[in-house]
Amino acid sequence: MGQAIPEESEAAAKKNGDSAAGDVEDFKLVGYSKFLRANPRTDRFPVLGFHHIEFWCGDAINTAGRFSFALGMPVAARSDLSTGNLFHSSILLRSSSLQFLFTAPYSDYPSSQTQSPKSLIPSFDSAAARRFSADHGLGVRAIAVRVADAAAAFHVSVSHGARPAFPPAELGLGFALSEVELYGDVVLRYVSYPSSGCVLPSFLPGFEDVADRPDPTDLSYGIQRLDHAVGNVADLTTAVKYVAGFTGFHEFAEFTAEDVGTEESGLNSVVLANNEETVLIPMNEPVHGTKRRSQIQTYLDHNGGAGVQHLALSTGDVLRTLREMRARSPMGGFEFMPSPPPTYYANLRRRAGDVLTEQQMKECEELGVLVDRDDQGVLLQIFTKPVGDRPTIFIEIIQRIGCMVKDEEGREYQKGGCGGFGKGNFSELFKSIEEYEKSLEAKLQTA
Ligand SMILES: [Fe+2]
Repeated sequence: MGQAIPEESEAAAKKNGDSAAGDVEDFKLVGYSKFLRANPRTDRFPVLGFHHIEFWCGDAINTAGRFSFALGMPVAARSDLSTGNLFHSSILLRSSSLQFLFTAPYSDYPSSQTQSPKSLIPSFDSAAARRFSADHGLGVRAIAVRVADAAAAFHVSVSHGARPAFPPAELGLGFALSEVELYGDVVLRYVSYPSSGCVLPSFLPGFEDVADRPDPTDLSYGIQRLDHAVGNVADLTTAVKYVAGFTGFHEFAEFTAEDVGTEESGLNSVVLANNEETVLIPMNEPVHGTKRRSQIQTYLDHNGGAGVQHLALSTGDVLRTLREMRARSPMGGFEFMPSPPPTYYANLRRRAGDVLTEQQMKECEELGVLVDRDDQGVLLQIFTKPVGDRPTIFIEIIQRIGCMVKDEEGREYQKGGCGGFGKGNFSELFKSIEEYEKSLEAKLQTA
């Protein structure tokens, strides 16, 4: 459960596993208007989908509790003192196939004691976790993807230039894990396990399911899966060459400062995708020389370097999810960026009147949902304010409409990235972020 990877995508990924990756040496940004989308299916190893996101924090149960309340993600499993883990507290939240893991180190006192490594996340490093929290505050440590073979993915990646972070380790029951550096202190974690066979844990070996709770679907606000995980880096070309080079991922979309910048700030962005376009990894870099400094640079300064900027969570009904989330905002849930001005919604009928009903458009305005579309579908999106102390990581909630296609067996599914990433809304987002930053600055000046 919680690992809904269709068998056919696994088979397709395996089939394409030994294709040669495209040459990324000549990578150059061309901008949204000149970019031609193609899927060369150049993955260097089979990548089946996102598996989980791990946050490193100072106290796992409290941080997880806030995310659980804010996002409607019940606690699903744990590995901590109660399960015999003396080294770290790890709490897993789950909503449909979205899995967020929160991990914090315990004190170092048991370091002389021996413990079966099977009860731990083997790559966990107490000193590194402490340093991570001190340097970055709350942040994502690992973007985990399910691969066919975590050892093979590691060796292929390293042989194509990936910097190793943790060598392959067997977790028992056929599970394996390995890690390579992604950007900053963030790792790309490879997880592999059998699709069927013996009784498998719902997450990873060593974790105990939390069973004495109400039906998780009753607690959910409708969030279904991770759509994309975005990083901010100092130098996009270097980062794209590095990640595309060892994964073989292809370029799915790109935006340059002219496409998305407002008068006062800008960025360049590239979206990398696996063969199935189910793992979408956009990366942004700041563009300098504008009147106001880039919000990507502000992130890099406050985060102490590169890191995950936002996680886009997909829901089947963004209006329902938003009503639930907004009801919790005043009580410790997540707050949202200011809504766009009424003029934005006055134009909405022209842009999306053929897809959304009058009632839906009215609710989008009431809830502050942004609407965009590309040549294939429609994207409904909204952004939270930064969720931690620093103006760094935030959450995006999205619903994609359209792009339904059938697989070889006639089953319907939605193509990845349907409706785009909100290019038309980028400028709206930056305007609202900039207004937020200005309001903070005004407070500092009057303090
Ligand atoms: Fe996004």
